Parts: sequence; C-alpha cells; structure tokens
Amino acid sequence: MNKNLNELLAQRNLPPLKSREEMLDILCREEYGFLPPEPTELKFTVEEKCIPNFCAGNAVANRVTAHCVINGKEFSFPFIAVIPTKEGKHPFFIHINFRPDVPDRYMPTEELVDNGFAVLSLYYNDITSDGGDFTNGLAGVLFENGKRGAEDAGKIAMWAWAAQRVMDYAQTLPCLDLDCAVVCGHSRLGKTALFTAATDTRFKFAYSNDSGCSGDALARGTTGETVEQIVDRFPFWFCENYKKYVKNESAMPYDQHYLLASIAPRFVCVGSASKDWWADPVSQFMTCVAASPAFENGFVCDDRLPQVDDKYFDGNIGYQMREGLHYFSRKDWNRLIEFVNKHR
Ligand code: GCU
Repeated sequence: MNKNLNELLAQRNLPPLKSREEMLDILCREEYGFLPPEPTELKFTVEEKCIPNFCAGNAVANRVTAHCVINGKEFSFPFIAVIPTKEGKHPFFIHINFRPDVPDRYMPTEELVDNGFAVLSLYYNDITSDGGDFTNGLAGVLFENGKRGAEDAGKIAMWAWAAQRVMDYAQTLPCLDLDCAVVCGHSRLGKTALFTAATDTRFKFAYSNDSGCSGDALARGTTGETVEQIVDRFPFWFCENYKKYVKNESAMPYDQHYLLASIAPRFVCVGSASKDWWADPVSQFMTCVAASPAFENGFVCDDRLPQVDDKYFDGNIGYQMREGLHYFSRKDWNRLIEFVNKHR
C-alpha cells in the first residue's frame, strides 16, 4: 500500500482489525443485532414455470415458497428462482431485491441468464416491512408484542437471514455451482448483502452497490450520511445499541472495515457512483483500503483517491466507481459479472 493512502487512512483513526469471530460479534452486538436463529424445520414448495416462455426458453422461472418453523411458530416467504436450461452447473446470484417483479428494470434477468448465471430473487418486504413495526412477517414470529432487546436483530439482519434461507434452497439444486454463490443488493439492501456474506461462509462473493453509511462506507471521517442521520430516519434497520453512536462515532469499537474484513478470505466487491455524495464514494473506497490486510490477496489500487471508471478487480476486494447517481444500473451488474468471472 502506498504512502498517500496510508496517510489518509491514518487520519480516520480506525480500530485495528481483529479475528473474524471478534469482528462479527461486535458488528452484531453494536450495529445490526444478532441474526435470528436458524429454523428448526424448513421445507420448500415450488410452482414451476410461473412465467410462461421465460427467456425464450433459455431459462425457467419458478416461484418457490420457503416454509420455516422458528421459535415454534410458522413463517413462510416466496422468492423467484430463474434457472438457465443449458446443461451444467450454473454460478448464481441471490439478489436481495427492492422489487418483487422478475424480470425488472433493476434486475436484467435475461442478460444474467445470457451470461450463464442463475438468479434467485427475494423481495425484501415479503420478509418483514421496511419500517419500525416489529409485529409483522419474520419480526412478528421473533418478538412478543414487537418488543426487541438491545442486541436483537434489526430489519437488515432479518433480510439477511432470509437470503440465507434462499441459500439453503440453492443447496438442494444439483444444477447450481455452490462454489460460485454471489449475494448482492443495492443501497440498504447492499448493506444487507454484506452482512449476509459476512455471517455466512457459503457465499463466495458479496457485491454491495452504493450501500454507503452503515454498509461499505467508513463512519469516521465521512462526508456523506452520518450515524446520526441514518438512526434518525431508519433506526429499525439496526439493533437498539446502534443509537449509542449518534454524534459519537469515535466511541465505536469498530468501523465498517470490520464488515468487509469479515468476508475474508472470500471475495467482496464495492460498487460506488461518482455523484452519490450521500453514500460517499471516497469513504467507500477507504473501507476497502482499511479492510485489505484481512485478505491474503488484498485491495490492489492506484495511489490516489478514486475517479470515475476506476475498476480495481485484481484482489479479493474489488471496487468500482461508475459515473452518475444512486441506482443499480446495467453497468453495475456488468461490472459485478466481470469481477465474479475473473475470480471464479
Ligand atoms: C436512504 C438512506 C441510505 C440508504 C438509502 C437506500 O437514502 O439514508 O442509507 O442506503 O436510503 O436504501 O436507498
């Protein structure tokens, strides 16, 4: 690592990296809450070919329902599994999705299939609402009267838990390449994708698009969204403990580099957008720099702050900056495909 970036990193005053176990324990206790327990029973029902003639016959789209028993109560949720019809084992994305539709303008399904990938898409509101009500969906089976303890799961941890159940389903399909499982998402769901992979080693790759504050951007020294701003509007994404760090980032026993580092020795790629000042591309980039030592093949980049169209894909941590605002574009997906193909 070069001098310039090392100096910039020193200014952030970050706590040193620890073992994966210690970092995950801190992240759960202080920020996201602990994952809900694994279901004691889990089965899947499948409605085959729920979209007729999908992808001109190059893939089938099946609607799957996961039926879980958790805390002695039943909870189920649907997702869509798009599987290429071509012979062989397919690498696959688990996409934690803002929208229920497949295909969708935010998930170029046919192009993903054309590139040889299967895609399993879960709609986050099918798990539990994106709001402060903890009595519905998965939250409703976890907590009596919607009351949580200080370290109990926030909504991000619940969506991550569901992505892990989709991975349980993927493991039942012989046509998927389990050595090439990618979890991805945009923004709040990019934060979720990182937490999913950090806590579950079955994912070989994680990709977070524009996730920013409480995701891939360092809190210390950010010029974008702060802990205070995110906790003010979205306290329910996190555990109750996270409130302690409002206007008090320097007291955090960690920073977001722990999240990326917990994915080591696997692969993680950060996607940023040049005009997304709220997510703060520079702080996203510095997270990669700070997490790098946790990986055997760390972050390989130039000795300067990132610029539009920089793509650093050589190490186990990747970073790319796309021109433009806050969205998950085809360009982002294509760069994700490029990163995965380079390392699988
Ligand atoms: C808000 C929030 C961000 C979040 C984004 C999103 O802008 O402040 O932290 O990433 O919503 O999920 O779209």
